[in-house]
Amino acid sequence: MKIYVLNGPNLNLLGVREPGIYGSESYTDLIKRIEAHAKEACVSVKCLQSNHEGTLVDYIHEGFYEGIDGIVLNPGAYTHTSIAILDAAKAVGIPTVEVHISKVQEREDFRQVSYIRAACVATITGKGFDGYLEAIDILEKVK
Ligand code: DQA
Repeated sequence: MKIYVLNGPNLNLLGVREPGIYGSESYTDLIKRIEAHAKEACVSVKCLQSNHEGTLVDYIHEGFYEGIDGIVLNPGAYTHTSIAILDAAKAVGIPTVEVHISKVQEREDFRQVSYIRAACVATITGKGFDGYLEAIDILEKVK
């Protein structure tokens, strides 16, 4: 089983960025945890991050051509704005789990809209880095 873990804007700044909300561990720490979990589950994982909407769309297309089985997707702020990322996920039809480190439902009004949710098999919020690991487990069951 092959999956992509895609992170959107500002998630490269984990550990620095608002640690009261996103924690004190870095993006590198996140990737280490994901890779260790994937290895244990015998899942092949490719982790990608971009601050650019179109690049995230390109990664979703790339996953399609690579024949991946699932996507763990934290689009960051693009969650609340991007129809392009929603359309990409719908276009490829790859099972996708939406992940947010923070509990978005308890935050500002503008975070209450998720465009990507309509194309996702599940949504995980507020579980910190563990949410990404849980998303991998969900994708394994979906396959
Ligand atoms: C986030 C929540 C978004 O609202 C925010 O813009 C992010 C991170 C999260 O992981 O909690 O960049 O997706």
